[in-house]
Amino acid sequence: MRLLSARLIVSLIVGVTFVSLCASYYQVIVLKRGLRRDLQHRAAVLADSLAGNVEHDLSHDPQHTLQRTVDRFANREHLTGLAVYDPRGNLMAVTNDLATQMATAPAVVTQSLKSDQGAEAFQRLGDARVHIYAVPLHHDAEITGSLAIVHDTDYIRAESLRIWRETFLSALAHVVLIVLITLLIVRWSIAGPIARTATWMKALRTGRLASASIKPLDLELFRPLAREVATLAASFNTARSAAELEARLRESAESLWTADRLAIRVRARLEEGQLFIVSNREPYLHVHSGKSIEVRTPASGLVTALEPVLRACGGTWVAHGSGDADMETVDSRGRLLVPPDDPHYTLRRVVLSKEEEQGYYYGFANEGIWPLCHIAHTRPVFRASDWEHYQNVNRKFARALVEEMEGVEHPVVLVQDYHFALLPRMIKQERPDARVALFWHIPWPNAEAFRICPWQRELVDGLLGADLLGFHIQSHCNNFLQTVDRVVESRINWEHFSVQRLEHHTAVRPFPISVEFSDSPPQVPAESAYEERTSLLKALGIDAARMGIGVDRIDYTKGILERFLAVERFLEKYPEYQGIFTFVQIGAPSRTHIKRYHDLQAEVEAEAERINWRFQMERWKPIVLLNRQHSHSEIAPYYRSADLCLVTALHDGMNLVAKEFVASRHDERGVLILSCFTGAARELQDALQVNPYDIDQTAEAIRTALEMEPQEKETRMQHMRRAVRENNVYRWAGRLIEALCDVRLDEVARPENKRLRASASSG
Ligand code: G6P
Repeated sequence: MRLLSARLIVSLIVGVTFVSLCASYYQVIVLKRGLRRDLQHRAAVLADSLAGNVEHDLSHDPQHTLQRTVDRFANREHLTGLAVYDPRGNLMAVTNDLATQMATAPAVVTQSLKSDQGAEAFQRLGDARVHIYAVPLHHDAEITGSLAIVHDTDYIRAESLRIWRETFLSALAHVVLIVLITLLIVRWSIAGPIARTATWMKALRTGRLASASIKPLDLELFRPLAREVATLAASFNTARSAAELEARLRESAESLWTADRLAIRVRARLEEGQLFIVSNREPYLHVHSGKSIEVRTPASGLVTALEPVLRACGGTWVAHGSGDADMETVDSRGRLLVPPDDPHYTLRRVVLSKEEEQGYYYGFANEGIWPLCHIAHTRPVFRASDWEHYQNVNRKFARALVEEMEGVEHPVVLVQDYHFALLPRMIKQERPDARVALFWHIPWPNAEAFRICPWQRELVDGLLGADLLGFHIQSHCNNFLQTVDRVVESRINWEHFSVQRLEHHTAVRPFPISVEFSDSPPQVPAESAYEERTSLLKALGIDAARMGIGVDRIDYTKGILERFLAVERFLEKYPEYQGIFTFVQIGAPSRTHIKRYHDLQAEVEAEAERINWRFQMERWKPIVLLNRQHSHSEIAPYYRSADLCLVTALHDGMNLVAKEFVASRHDERGVLILSCFTGAARELQDALQVNPYDIDQTAEAIRTALEMEPQEKETRMQHMRRAVRENNVYRWAGRLIEALCDVRLDEVARPENKRLRASASSG
């Protein structure tokens, strides 16, 4: 750094001095030229005005008047003197100072006499530098002599010297100033950031920097570099933690699933195969933000589960491009490589028109299948036009997928959710050699309830095109098989949980989805849960010592109103908790184009308002409703510090909020109150299980949770954490893909039966 500074300073001195010198040289030349021109002009004007007088003197009485005229004009600015010569060059009159130097006529005088024209010269006269201007004198067109005007030019030299001196001083001041500023910039903007980066990298190398603190440093000039370094550091830390975790797991011979283990196992199972995922939500969306385009990752359990697999194994994800800038960031076939800053796999975006989105997503999927499968007493709506769109969009996705699979030898396809019930059959028709699984993320109701769907046969038939169908829990698998039994011609093998329809076999299995689980607590300021809780509440304008939390999309299946009623009942029954206990509901608006969801939003707000109005005191109210989408990092402190978490879904396939709450409690505290109508209730037996329709029971559970002995809380939480740790999201993805790879493909699809396949697809 010192060498750099010295080099910089020398270069600056040389550079600035050189530029100043050139500028001054030019300035001096211009000045000199100007002063000379001015002097020449003055001499000519003076000569003109004197010549008449002198000519008059010469023609009348030169002996008496000539010397007087000469002396009279001698005292002008910078004028050294005058001299008058006869036509032969003999001196006739001269001012005193020039008597000796001008005794003989200088060359310019002779020249003016000879040429009968004015002549001038800059020359030396003794020690002095002068300018002589000579004009011929006439009488009746005859030359009667020459008048010489002599100006002192030393002042021009003095002026030039003054300019040089001033330039030197100003160059010196410039050099000093520029060097000082440069040194300061080097110190603040280069040396400072480099030193900070070095300290930061050292902390990273020695393991003192936690992943959470890896943010791009503010390196001013080097911002792009800082971003790259931060990304590199984050990958480095992730790799190190994975290696440490791996070593620990190996040491304890545990078969825990991690992202890395999942990637390795899936890669091994796929062999030559290539992975394809289809879902309605995309893993990255591009949206306009002011004048630029931003990338967003939706907070989705599905993305968390499947991203590591695609990152490690490559492949293609086909999804609905729903971001408003999505189509500006893809190629002509709707593709782009993601993750955007570290591309590993292809995202193929499918464009849907407003009508398609309305019919397929809002209409058939969310007003039809969603309430049909969730027994939450909201009536499903089945419109023929929505069904049309649903079929068309499924076909559109099938086409996009088949296009992506072109030339791929062993495609392995994971279709996600109730948006694509028809897709498995459509894919198989085109590519019988593809292994296709569909995971149904919501419950499957009993056959009696499913019967009300006018297109139950088509849906079931579409699903039975898959080689593997996954549900969260066994009872959903049973319900599905019973539905199959009722609606289509098939052979069900209850022992192996599979269906045979038209020579095709479909295995039906439970795969309980989960969340990520980390043993190491997040790197946050070491506050107690109590302190964190009170400061969170304070930020919301609430003074309360105890806190409950709920996190949901505003959806009628989540039992949010029932939960509020339970809070009200609890405060009614146990008034000593008024002013003490506050329930925070984080509610993300969802599917608000659907009237039922839109109305529910208003109902939830009104209910919170009503209960608050009933109980609220100065700086306390029973319910805080945070009505917007919150990121994981915003929700984490609520999970970490709440006394209890309320999950009161009226019906839910799994419910990941329950598992996220458990995974967040590194302190092994906090009580989970969990609806017995969720898939999670099967695994989390140590939660306080409630029937959300039973308001008194939930109110009682709130009291039990708040008054539970610490030891009991700890034991319950430990058990639940063990369950989530073992059955984490990587295990879900791993088991699903392994099961799909284990499926025995139909005769027609086996590599040795290419001919059969060709005739099947042409038929
Ligand atoms: C359910 C579905 C998911 C879906 C989520 C959010 O849990 O099973 O597949 O991602 O709801 O719903 P949205 O309609 O916003 O995708």
